[in-house]
Amino acid sequence: MLFRAALQCFAAKLGTASERAGYLANPFKESGAMGWFSSDIQSLDDLFVHTLQDIYYAENKILKSLPTMIDKASDPKLKEGFRMHLRETETHVARIEEVFRMHNATKKAVNCPAIDGIIEEAEEIAGDISDKKVLDAALIAAAQAVEHYEITRYGSLIAWAKQLGRPDCASVLQKTLDEEKATDAKLTQLAESGVNREAGAGART
Ligand SMILES: [Fe+2]
Ligand SMILES: [Fe+2]
Repeated sequence: MLFRAALQCFAAKLGTASERAGYLANPFKESGAMGWFSSDIQSLDDLFVHTLQDIYYAENKILKSLPTMIDKASDPKLKEGFRMHLRETETHVARIEEVFRMHNATKKAVNCPAIDGIIEEAEEIAGDISDKKVLDAALIAAAQAVEHYEITRYGSLIAWAKQLGRPDCASVLQKTLDEEKATDAKLTQLAESGVNREAGAGART
């Protein structure tokens, strides 16, 4: 799922057929159509700020999709877990804004179709499942795809912040990374302690 979303992200940023052909010939050649390789990203600092803007977009998108996840979940622990993560996600957005201020960077969101793809696919799958137990298992898997996306982004941002001599920014972002990892672990625990078994039991009846 993540791989497909990443491909969608690249495909969307590659633009026209000729740009795609150029990319396939030399994937590391700069192209104005590609956010990650565009000429406005020249330094590690540029990359740090761009990625901060990318995760700012992602966190706001997640904030909008979590109420639907809460509505759709049947397992009370899963519902409560999503509610708790909604509150944490509000803090994640606020922390990114804090890092924008600390680093004197422009507070803006840059569109990344990777998170759009992950969430869109989750909504499609969830819309097709009528069995509530199977739906819970699907919601956990979808939420874990989102968490893993966030974990990769925060991991890179923290490493780059340290490299840029900004351990203060790194420690703010580290708090969020710890919460994303804890959420991922909690989702695994929920799946393995009952949700998957109940989803499988329905298939045998
Ligand atoms: Fe988050
Ligand atoms: Fe998260």
